[in-house]
Amino acid sequence: MAAAFCHEMIGRMQRALLIGASGYLGRTLHARLGPGRSAATFHAHAVAGALPFDATRERLPALLARAGGGFSHVVLLHGLTNPDACAKDPAGTARVNVESMQALAADAMTAGLTPVFLSSDYVYDGTRGRRREDEPPCPTTEYGRQKAAVEQWLAAQRGPWLVARSSKIVGGELGTHSVLGPWVEEIRAGRELRCASDQVFSPASVDDVAGALVRLMETGATGLFNVAGPEALSRLALAQLLGDAVAAADPSVRPRITACSLRDIPFAEPRPLDTSLDTGKLQGAIGWPFVPMAELCLRVARAHFGSTA
Ligand SMILES: NC(=O)c1ccc[n+]([C@@H]2O[C@H](COP(=O)([O-])OP(=O)(O)OC[C@H]3O[C@@H](n4cnc5c(N)ncnc54)[C@H](OP(=O)(O)O)[C@@H]3O)[C@@H](O)[C@H]2O)c1
Repeated sequence: MAAAFCHEMIGRMQRALLIGASGYLGRTLHARLGPGRSAATFHAHAVAGALPFDATRERLPALLARAGGGFSHVVLLHGLTNPDACAKDPAGTARVNVESMQALAADAMTAGLTPVFLSSDYVYDGTRGRRREDEPPCPTTEYGRQKAAVEQWLAAQRGPWLVARSSKIVGGELGTHSVLGPWVEEIRAGRELRCASDQVFSPASVDDVAGALVRLMETGATGLFNVAGPEALSRLALAQLLGDAVAAADPSVRPRITACSLRDIPFAEPRPLDTSLDTGKLQGAIGWPFVPMAELCLRVARAHFGSTA
């Protein structure tokens, strides 16, 4: 009993090393944990208080020597996250997305730390949604194959690991791929938003994804969790929620939103259509209150178009 208790306590988060904290999710996670509960790295885009680190050149022991101690988790947030870039250069992107992940996760387990890997809804082919964690991956894109390869490698390891499979991570921040933020910029510029009505995902606010991830680590959770919002929404429906919220915040703005098919957009590979995820396991474990997309869109619209914007 005492040994089991002790093991559980060891699994709970003390301090997290965030690799890729200059990225969209990493910045939010870093801000949430603060310097007391995290240390962070960047690669090309410097972040105050973070360490430079290239995952293709350096291994974890050297980074740990620079980052200080007290870590329980190593969160692998880094990656080349544009699916078209993966399709165009499978070998080059795999050096970061697969090889460095496996090397750093192996180093973490050797050091007695829990690696946390950010996977994606692209591990599925998009032919049906609301996928549960126990449904085998069937990726149709190179990005999805790389994510599935790391998941599969981790599943074969002895040490504890945590995989958070996310769908679209969204927010109203400008100048990054936060989905709602770039749409705000398009609406402000008077440009038309052309959005796929047949692309369906489980969007979640970046604050909620970061919060749920921290809660999972705090509880010492291991294994695979879909860390995504409870709604299955099309890209078009999400854009319409934002468009309605913008028109309510500033009636002089008339967002122009038109429907298209994902197949009308010339990506390097056909992208999966319905990548929504079932989140029953996550909710059973931590009961995270994800903000509804309608509410998030109202907040984003008020922040950018409201009278105090
Ligand atoms: N955003 C989403 O909607 C979403 C959905 C599902 C899953 N995910 C997964 O969640 C994770 C975080 O996503 P994100 O949107 O925050 O990614 P992101 O904004 O594209 O950030 C990627 C991070 O990787 C770092 N990086 C790139 N190459 C590196 C290298 N060679 N060595 C070390 N670091 C390197 C970047 O550093 P610099 O910028 O400093 O170069 C940046 O910090 C990714 O694994 C992504 O696949 C994201």
